[in-house]
Amino acid sequence: MKVLVVGGGGREHALCWAIAGSPLVTKLFCAPGNAGIAQDAECVDIGAEDIDSIIRFVQENEIEFVVIGPEAPLVAGLSDKLLEIGVKSFGPSAAAAVMEGSKGFMKDFCARHDIPTAAYGRFTDVVEAKAFVEKNGAPIVVKADGLAAGKGVIIAETTDQANAAIDDMLEGGAFGEAGAEVVIEEFLGGEEASFFVLCDGETALPLASAQDHKRVGDGDTGLNTGGMGAYSPAPIVTDEMAETIMETIIGPTMKGMKEEGKPYKGVLYAGLMIENGQAKLLEYNVRFGDPECQVLMMRLMSDLLPALIASADGVLKDFDLRWYDETALTVVMAANGYPGSYDKGSVIKGLEDAETDKDVTVFHAGTTLNDEKDVCAIGGRVLAVTALGQTVAEAQTNAYRAVDAIDWPGGFCRRDIGWRAIERESSS
Ligand code: AMP
Ligand code: GLY
Repeated sequence: MKVLVVGGGGREHALCWAIAGSPLVTKLFCAPGNAGIAQDAECVDIGAEDIDSIIRFVQENEIEFVVIGPEAPLVAGLSDKLLEIGVKSFGPSAAAAVMEGSKGFMKDFCARHDIPTAAYGRFTDVVEAKAFVEKNGAPIVVKADGLAAGKGVIIAETTDQANAAIDDMLEGGAFGEAGAEVVIEEFLGGEEASFFVLCDGETALPLASAQDHKRVGDGDTGLNTGGMGAYSPAPIVTDEMAETIMETIIGPTMKGMKEEGKPYKGVLYAGLMIENGQAKLLEYNVRFGDPECQVLMMRLMSDLLPALIASADGVLKDFDLRWYDETALTVVMAANGYPGSYDKGSVIKGLEDAETDKDVTVFHAGTTLNDEKDVCAIGGRVLAVTALGQTVAEAQTNAYRAVDAIDWPGGFCRRDIGWRAIERESSS
């Protein structure tokens, strides 16, 4: 079958890498892809948010299945538009993607269905928003309602910071339309974990857990980023915790979405805060995490593509996926300056040396080939150097050995990905 993957980041490289190995695939395309994806798929020069061009490409090339990587085309209704032309896709409808597209919707949904989450309020009015902050005190969290590329969440340590964030979003237009409404919520303490399930509208099949490192600096310090590294499984998500998450969060979500006429299909990514054996929902994403997808794909033993098709067809019940027991750990290499402004065009060498270990795969994000056919950086997050190991510590050693083989003065990475899990390992 002819398959198109939409997107061009590290997540989409991992998806293409997994799908390319499926015996079901006769031809794999990726729009727009990147220099690494070009080794697994034919890249087509169409942006992931250019819905009309994607639809035209699918029709002209008789694509039979589309895997939608990022949230923006999902929220914009790509999956619905494909359905209109009779093409199946992996990913929720626009109606269901509102789970990520509107934090206010997600919070009200949790309230309607008794799903544990932080206490909150929704506001479009500055005075009312500030009164809520005054009443609840700091620390407190201010979030832009809509999609803000991971930047729309302010953890305010003081009420002044919270009020400034409210001004920025509601009056300053900091996130445009996405910030015209804000959610203000209780600050939750604990340890974060990500939990992924495949859904077919009715059934949710747990995939695996992962933890990522969102801050740019070692020791989880500095600015928030899209994610500087991740590992799977997440030791904090024990089998018992996974069951609790399925029962108290995922189950009611699937049931509630169906009842509300928005059956959820695709991957559902629950961002969780876990404290004292209790998990609360921080946010839902309607896509795989990046770089969590990279570690999940490294651990997946089964063929991914039939599972994605089963999700679209509504036949996940009785479906089973097999995983390697090993830990996968990925280290993101980013361009100097990220998450602030960064240079483009620096050349990356040593990628083949990094991949000589069979347990290592280097997934590309912001890369392209220059005129001399060198791989060079054109994005903030550029590579996800991913390795397997019997323990988190071993996976970490393998990943950093590969990182050290890469010769890229224009980039940097954190040196402590996995530290929390390794501390746990060494104390048990
Ligand atoms: P979100 O995009 O909603 O996941 O928020 C981004 C990050 O902000 C999360 O990964 C958490 O680290 C943090 N965060 C969000 N909401 C809360 C909360 N209510 N309490 C504590 N931290 C939060
Ligand atoms: N790594 C976090 C995310 O994909 O949202």
